[in-house]
Amino acid sequence: MTTTEGPDTRGYFGVYGGRFVPEALIAALDELDVEYRKALSDKEFVGELERMGRDYAGLPSLLYEARRLSEKAGARILLKREDLNHTGAHKVRNVLGQALLTKRMGKRRVIAETGAGQHGVATATAAAYLDLECTVYMGEEDTRRQALNVARMRMLGAEVVSVKSGSRTLKDAMNEAFRDWVASVDYTHYVVGSVGGPHPFPAMVRDFVRGIGVEARAQSLELLDRLPDAVCACVGGGSNALGIFHAFIPDADVRLFGFEAGGDGVETGRHAAAITAGGAGVLHGARTYLLQDEDGQTIESHSISAGLDYPAVGPEHAWLSDTGRATYEPVTDAEAMQAFRLLCRTEGIIPAIESAHGLAGALRIAPRLATELGREPIVLVNLSGRGDKDMETAAKWFGLLEEKS
Ligand SMILES: Cc1ncc(COP(=O)(O)O)c(C=O)c1O
Repeated sequence: MTTTEGPDTRGYFGVYGGRFVPEALIAALDELDVEYRKALSDKEFVGELERMGRDYAGLPSLLYEARRLSEKAGARILLKREDLNHTGAHKVRNVLGQALLTKRMGKRRVIAETGAGQHGVATATAAAYLDLECTVYMGEEDTRRQALNVARMRMLGAEVVSVKSGSRTLKDAMNEAFRDWVASVDYTHYVVGSVGGPHPFPAMVRDFVRGIGVEARAQSLELLDRLPDAVCACVGGGSNALGIFHAFIPDADVRLFGFEAGGDGVETGRHAAAITAGGAGVLHGARTYLLQDEDGQTIESHSISAGLDYPAVGPEHAWLSDTGRATYEPVTDAEAMQAFRLLCRTEGIIPAIESAHGLAGALRIAPRLATELGREPIVLVNLSGRGDKDMETAAKWFGLLEEKS
């Protein structure tokens, strides 16, 4: 099996992936596996999904050449503008696919877990649009960091459950969502928010978001008459990264870079760099890279960005890393925030802090690539979302708000 073909029939990407779940979920996962593959070869389903993407979510998203940023970077920087999608991030692609599939399976309710809130907002939006009941699990810490997104979800009619266990972040929200699903699987579909979880979620979510790379590849050929030298993205669970990488995997000359949250610095232990500093283990239903202690207990992650604050990564990334097809590096909070401000000031675009990690990584590798190639490199960055949700964090970081008198 090559890295373009995974997973195998048991849901493995090399030695990663699989299904490590309670018996009660196996039948539901089998049904999901059959139904999503049937749906993707059903013209009516694909046509309806394309229509919703185009008429409702604003797809295809733009490919934009960031000229002023390019001058600073010493590389031609192309931005895939997923921030312009309805609900403000790449996540809408995945949830429209899964929500439509929920309808097709005859279920009436969706549940989701969310960190930054973007996936929760996207799920609540799709649920409203397709008339489904919706419950979103969110760590208490994240409900505080992303209060506005909590209000958005409630406005859209979703129930938001604040999870108070563990580190009160995404990992704990996901635990609660699995618990709910075990008890309600007859009428509920669990809209997993990234390329993680038990088979078939990693493959299915990738298939729903891989349009990002398909579009960007065609747009690059149209704009430049060639492919970029490198494709960069931030990696939380890894959906925006796989979404833009996947169509480029067969293009051997295109380098793929994933940037994990380095938090305060990997050496401090306060980070979320599962590939850089983790090891193989099992979390949330799949074998993959994760942060764990010597006893195999999952370690709590840290990142300034709620969407990257997760101690594991989707299994296909673990495979791409082991095979060397993609390279993963950590980016610290401070590096990400510097890139965040640079994009604001050079292009008038406020990115999500998650996306700023991908951008910071691109700025880091640009001179390296220039030396290697002996010319100005062309670097494509997935701008996975917009920064409205992060303005409070950014305002605090940069001291932008007036002191209260
Ligand atoms: C804008 C944005 N980018 C990236 C991520 C990280 O998720 P993933 O790695 O699955 O793309 C999130 C998650 O909330 C997000 O909101």
